[in-house]
Amino acid sequence: MAPRLILVSNRVNVPDGGPRQAGGLTVAVNAALKQREGVWFGWSGKVSDDDELSPPHVTERRRRTFITIDLSKTDFQEYYNGFANRVLWPALHYRVDLAEFTSVDLGGYQRVNGHFADALSKFIAPEDVIWVHDYHLLPMAQELRKRGHNNPIGFFLHIPCPPPDVLKALPHHEETVGALSYCDLVGLQTEQDADNLSRYFSGLPGAIQRAPGLFEFDRRRVRVRAFPVAIATAVYARAARNSVKSPLVEDLRQSLHGNRLILGVDRLDYSKGIPNRMQALGKFLEKFPAWRGKVTFLQVTPKSRVEVPEYIAMDEEVSTLVGKINGRYGDPGWTPIRYINKSYSRASLAGLYRSADIGLVTPLRDGMNLVAKEYVAAQDPENPGVLILSQFAGAAHELDGAIIVNPYEPEAVAAAIEQALEMPIEERRERQQGMFEHLATNDIDLWAETFLNALGETREQPRLLQSLRQLFASARG
Ligand code: G6P
Repeated sequence: MAPRLILVSNRVNVPDGGPRQAGGLTVAVNAALKQREGVWFGWSGKVSDDDELSPPHVTERRRRTFITIDLSKTDFQEYYNGFANRVLWPALHYRVDLAEFTSVDLGGYQRVNGHFADALSKFIAPEDVIWVHDYHLLPMAQELRKRGHNNPIGFFLHIPCPPPDVLKALPHHEETVGALSYCDLVGLQTEQDADNLSRYFSGLPGAIQRAPGLFEFDRRRVRVRAFPVAIATAVYARAARNSVKSPLVEDLRQSLHGNRLILGVDRLDYSKGIPNRMQALGKFLEKFPAWRGKVTFLQVTPKSRVEVPEYIAMDEEVSTLVGKINGRYGDPGWTPIRYINKSYSRASLAGLYRSADIGLVTPLRDGMNLVAKEYVAAQDPENPGVLILSQFAGAAHELDGAIIVNPYEPEAVAAAIEQALEMPIEERRERQQGMFEHLATNDIDLWAETFLNALGETREQPRLLQSLRQLFASARG
């Protein structure tokens, strides 16, 4: 039987015209599967009324199979809203203060990982290569091993990995973060994340470090390495060129009446630092009054995780701040901040990025932040905009042509906005060119191939290497 790539993630982008998926994970996983024979397994996005497990939904599209299962209300509450998004999400974003741990939610998280493993188990063949994604599924490799699967298992964490002390603040962390030791390869976004996980692993009971990033636990071997996630740069640049003529972009351009455009695009999430950004904009308008009436800030913010209390609170906070700044600085003919909770396709956003003089990407903590990369890919090389990027985004380790800022310092962000608005064209072009070249070389196809190659090398088994070569050959063909 031909080897297949089995991708496992909480969200699955089933090509059935369902709701649009937010976040970078779907972009990356889609790309990994793009030209390969494979399976994508995860949650259907549906919550069923009863607690009975419904059979998996299977959709076939060309050489790909999508397998999804529904969650019960209790599972959704305890696994998704509870442990994944009220404990792991804040803690891994260095916000242990926001983590609301309960053992009931941890139990639900483990139970759902078990359900997923049970359902997936039936579809796994011995030749398959398994690649698990993100914090919802930290125990998945261990669950699959318990069910007797000896397949190579890789894991990629799309969000940050904080230092060991922060990880250890998670109650029962050995059962969640520690369970990653059942993988063959764990991929992280940055060297800093990989170093943090390595230091955490080396402190676990029974760990033997064989080499940098190579650990042994009870004869199991796991490797830890950084694989900065990327985008389909050339495809995205083309989408941006094409969509500048779209009605969305045309309408926006006309409504600006020649004003310079500053753009922010983020899910409504406290890790994105939207209130800090609003304060920085307020500072900018206060300190640089000559720009009043001449710039417009557009913040596109689809709502997410709407049942989680911290997100409900954020929604209120941002709306209030936007109202205050618009009230203080706006006049009948000009509103400084346009705040929109709609979600747009990545192709539509590409046109908005290309039209923006500044991409303002200032998360307080972010695994990578693909908006930053997409903003760069979308620019017109002859007249590019300027990226202002938080030092706490994974992308800051790569995008050295951005103006790097500390999002906790509104005055510095305000000064960066002014610097970007005044930046001469030669400097803009030079900064843009270096970043674009980096993204054109290090694109999402290379990312997937590099990860899968590294996974192949972990076992040093000729059969596995052969399986992976066949996967690459079918991807190229
Ligand atoms: C981030 C996470 C993804 C998640 C996405 C959207 O990008 O890394 O795993 O899917 O946010 O969040 P949601 O809770 O809507 O899946």
